[in-house]
Amino acid sequence: MTAREIAASAFEWLSVSLAVVVVLYATLLGLLTTSTVQSHVVYLHAVQMTWFKDLNVPETFGFLKNQVTPFSINVSDGERLYAWHILPVELYRKHEQSLVEESEGFVSDISSRISFRLLRDDPDARLVIHLHGAGGTVASGYRVPNYRALSAGHPAKIHVLTFDYRGFGRSTGSPSEPGLILDALAVIDWAMKVAGIPASRIVLFAQSMGTAVNIAVSKKLASQDPPVVFAGTILVAPFVDVATLVSTYRVAGTIPIISPLARFPFIFKHLQRLIRDKWSSKDNITSYIRSNELNHKKYRLTIIHAEDDWDIPCHHTQLLFWHAVKASINTGLSYDELEQKKLDSKTDLGAAGSIMEWRTDHGVIREEISKTGLHDVIMGYPVITMAVMRSFEAADALFTLN
Ligand SMILES: *[C@@H]1O[C@H](CO)[C@@H](O)[C@H](O)[C@H]1NC(C)=O
Ligand SMILES: *[C@@H]1O[C@H](CO)[C@@H](O)[C@H](O)[C@H]1NC(C)=O
Repeated sequence: MTAREIAASAFEWLSVSLAVVVVLYATLLGLLTTSTVQSHVVYLHAVQMTWFKDLNVPETFGFLKNQVTPFSINVSDGERLYAWHILPVELYRKHEQSLVEESEGFVSDISSRISFRLLRDDPDARLVIHLHGAGGTVASGYRVPNYRALSAGHPAKIHVLTFDYRGFGRSTGSPSEPGLILDALAVIDWAMKVAGIPASRIVLFAQSMGTAVNIAVSKKLASQDPPVVFAGTILVAPFVDVATLVSTYRVAGTIPIISPLARFPFIFKHLQRLIRDKWSSKDNITSYIRSNELNHKKYRLTIIHAEDDWDIPCHHTQLLFWHAVKASINTGLSYDELEQKKLDSKTDLGAAGSIMEWRTDHGVIREEISKTGLHDVIMGYPVITMAVMRSFEAADALFTLN
């Protein structure tokens, strides 16, 4: 072959490869516009990660015998959610003998269990309702160490209630924005009515995709009449909304899928319109803060994010914090003005990161940027324990005294 022939065949090979890549990319984008594929991409509910283990045997995930009670909660539209009630370890120790003697596994009547009575009948008991992120089940990944961190501050008092949304794990149905909101409302309703825990003894904790559910239900409950506001709302690694999230999302932190299209605003806008579940946390956080300020309700919102989070960049937290602060004041405040204020008044914790707290007459809005912790490892860190304790203490100063 002459040099010219080699060049020609190389050129041909390149054009064919390029054509294949373009077709594949277009197919991928096309698939992403269908709601079933979108739902799998946003919620990852088919990715269970606990495939070969039985959720009804929580001991296999590192819990003590009967420390966890698996049960289910009915949702108003007929779906059934799979849930875990987790006892804190010091409370377990006090009742170890009787707990060990109870039968194991899934219970259809939770009111018959000792663990449930320990929650319902103790006027000092606290409850963290846990809203997990995309993918997996109640038992996967860093969720188990997360539960320990949530109750570590007061291991005789802080119970954890966690569940799988519709379409996840053993829960029925398939996920959607209104569906997940109904699910969270059903779980909150169970906690308040069946377990009898008032909002002042409940913290709503969420990570990643769960933060959107958290903000949506917190907003809904805070704006109803009479309003319901919890002791605390804690968001770890949240995002502004799905459109902003996908526009910055990179597979494995490196391969951009949608962001190249951001250079073509027309196509990009069109694609954004096709997103079914928008999860606009920035709008909901604004209404949540406004309702509380208007109703003179005490509130405490904590947003935590690690700087080295490659899944959701911590810029999302800075934007949400800004939206929340802006909603708490009547005068305007630009993003840059707030960043300037942070330079003056944030607490620099060196290698641990930084904290910016914004106080109003009614509430506290707190941004914690940790230097490390990635997207989910942070859930087991003591910053999580501290955020829970601060929330319960702010709601009732006596809590940390006894
Ligand atoms: C939940 O729903 C199932 C069937 O859909 C029913 O058998 C069960 O009694 C319900 N549980 C409660 C507590 O209402
Ligand atoms: C809040 O969230 C809900 C559900 O995610 C959504 O329908 C609504 O548009 C959002 N925005 C506001 C301002 O409520």
